Amino acid sequence: MELTKQEQAMLNGEEGYAVRKSLEILVALGEIFGAKNLIDVGSVQVSGVSYHNLGDAGLEFLDSLAKDGKVKVLTTLNPAGMDLENWRQLGITAEFAEKQNLVIDAFQRMGILVSCTCTPYLIGNLPLYSEHVAWSESSAVTFANSVLGARTNREGGPSALAAAFVGKTPCYGLHLNENRVPDVHVKVETEFSKLSDWGALGYAIGKKAENKIPYITGIKTAQLDELKSFCASTVTYGTKPLFYIKNITPGSDQQTLPKETVTIEVSDIKNAYDSINDNIDEIDFVCVGCPHCSIKEIQEIVNLIQGKKVKEGTELWVATSRTVKQLADKRGYTVTIETAGGKFACDTCMAVAPLEGRFKALATTSAKGCFYSRQNLMKTKMGSMKECIEAAVSGKWGN
Ligand code: F3S
Repeated sequence: MELTKQEQAMLNGEEGYAVRKSLEILVALGEIFGAKNLIDVGSVQVSGVSYHNLGDAGLEFLDSLAKDGKVKVLTTLNPAGMDLENWRQLGITAEFAEKQNLVIDAFQRMGILVSCTCTPYLIGNLPLYSEHVAWSESSAVTFANSVLGARTNREGGPSALAAAFVGKTPCYGLHLNENRVPDVHVKVETEFSKLSDWGALGYAIGKKAENKIPYITGIKTAQLDELKSFCASTVTYGTKPLFYIKNITPGSDQQTLPKETVTIEVSDIKNAYDSINDNIDEIDFVCVGCPHCSIKEIQEIVNLIQGKKVKEGTELWVATSRTVKQLADKRGYTVTIETAGGKFACDTCMAVAPLEGRFKALATTSAKGCFYSRQNLMKTKMGSMKECIEAAVSGKWGN
């Protein structure tokens, strides 16, 4: 890979340990993937924030970088393993909280904005069309590439962090025009009535277009919350982190329709629900906000839960960024949800919090949430926001 004089100096250690280590990571990655050079990035989103996933070895690595490393571009974090303020309320142990705080402290010393969210685009980390960025979390990467038209590979935690210290990333993969061409035409021949249908659609497309870039036709309208849900599921269940929806996402008018065609019918959506939903009635955990809730979704929760009570023995978590929660505080939404017995889970989510063995059966709006909760040994149900809030109130699915 060709390096500029300044990049070579960084590799020689002239800007300290963290920058040298970062250059080593970026050069190694670039050489594996055949990048010719490094390119500037406008922002970074770093995953690998939960102590649950990092462990002591990860913490040590971060600490070593934090000794002399400062990020060069706007950098935000993926969800951590706990709500950084109300971790006790979510049943997190003091031992875990202590380690998680050390992780956050290391990121803070690096100059990273401690905004732990998978929806950075809702809180000010909003790339422009065709801007190069280095993001990590799969739903955010897919949103950046597809809905915003920005350009990012799906970075690992260390390579994203390296991009933040250098302000650059190797130019390969989805940074290049030739790798952003759709290779399968997905004809959608069904209508959607609720948010979770978009999760089911992502599941169905993920299975039929594995490791491909779909060009989707047949969808007439889409809202931001629907697209963020779709971004999370399609990449979780198999596609590359980029898609086009005709007349809806940027750049869709510049693409040629791929020859290979698959169709999504009502039966595919039904099959997706059948695969995601287990045969259970009792629900002890309801978690909405995967990806993190927008203020509009929180408003919907408020309308559904006002004057009701979460059933004893069932927990309701509303996962969101701290910034969006502050808006909810101001609008009186927080007090309504908490009066009903719901809990905010800011800075964290059901996939990265240490939840294994704590709950038996999850209800959620999110196909991705179901995928990861099964790894935490939960049975799962996916449905609309209304169905989820009803499950929180009754402790049952479908009552
Ligand atoms: Fe976000 Fe966690 Fe879901 S990172 S997309 S809330 S699994």
